[in-house]
Amino acid sequence: MSTPSFEKKPILLLLLATLAILVGTIITMVLPFAWVNTESDRIETVTPYSPLEQAGRDVYIREGCNNCHSQTVRPLVADVLRYGEYSKSGEFVHDRPHLWGSRRTGPDLARLGGKYPNAWHYQHMAAPMVMIPKSNMPAYAFLSERSLEANSVRKAMDVLGFPYTQAEIDELSSKTEMDAMVAYLQKLGTGIPWRKTAAVEIVGDLKNPFPKDTAAIAAGRTVYQQNCAPCHGDQLEGGIGPELEGENYDDEILFELIYGGITDNGMPSFANLGSQKVWQMVNFIRYGDH
Ligand code: HEC
Ligand code: HEC
Repeated sequence: MSTPSFEKKPILLLLLATLAILVGTIITMVLPFAWVNTESDRIETVTPYSPLEQAGRDVYIREGCNNCHSQTVRPLVADVLRYGEYSKSGEFVHDRPHLWGSRRTGPDLARLGGKYPNAWHYQHMAAPMVMIPKSNMPAYAFLSERSLEANSVRKAMDVLGFPYTQAEIDELSSKTEMDAMVAYLQKLGTGIPWRKTAAVEIVGDLKNPFPKDTAAIAAGRTVYQQNCAPCHGDQLEGGIGPELEGENYDDEILFELIYGGITDNGMPSFANLGSQKVWQMVNFIRYGDH
């Protein structure tokens, strides 16, 4: 086969190659700039960070939390099932720099806000293993001993062009880095209208498969201690979450509460445990000795 004639003409080849690369660059790099961060790309409900939240964000970056936590839901089935609709560019317009990250030693945090009550975060940040025994997340208790520098937070807000009030700045001097971190974590993803679309669907028959069964109650006790005790207490006496002793919901409602969570109010969904374990806990809570 003979070589095409342009391959023997270096100048022409150079021009054609440059053209080919240029077209590729325009399509993959230049055009997206016209689409990203435009008005149509904005999400009305995604608002800038307050001074306290921004201070928390800066501590997050300083501590390198993004080495273990991503903040982006990838367009992959496993991600969407776990965290909801995949991330859109408009979710990050106020994130400078963005903290998408590339590693997940811990879970994605892009939609974390409201998942847990504040009190859970204070305890978890101070000593993760108290809440999640197998956690390998380091403890950050020292953040509670470090106060915020109101002046530098104000400067950061000015540079970023975020709105703030004098009252918000004054308030900072009575807050710690821990307060700022918790405020930041509770803000994450709260402005995203579709963040709850990973709705937990209850499939199958909603009927207690092992009513008052002693083996189920014993198994439920273990599952409860591992997953619920940090918030509802060892003896169901309550703590971060309400007391569950004497819970008088019927079996089906209790199942729905645990399986689906009350995700606006800091009670996470436990669908990931599977329905068998949730039914075991229902039996433990309603019919076991506490
Ligand atoms: C060495 C890796 C590592 C580092 C560094 C790390 N984490 Fe974690 N994080 C984890 C792991 C693993 C989990 C899951 C177990 C748990 O909840 O403790 C987790 C869980 C969390 C959760 C609960 C998420 C959920 O949906 O349940 C939050 C919030 C969190 N981390 C915040 C932070 C913050 C803020 C920092 C930085 C100050 C940080 N993490 C640093 C590994 C890490
Ligand atoms: C991160 C803390 C946390 C964890 C872990 C947690 N809960 Fe909750 N739970 C809450 C909070 C907060 C509420 C209150 C929500 C509300 O009032 O709307 C709640 C509410 C409930 C309710 C409704 C109580 C009522 O009287 O309305 C039940 C039942 C319940 N949780 C069971 C469980 C079970 C079972 C587990 C373990 C699988 C569990 N929870 C794990 C925080 C938690």
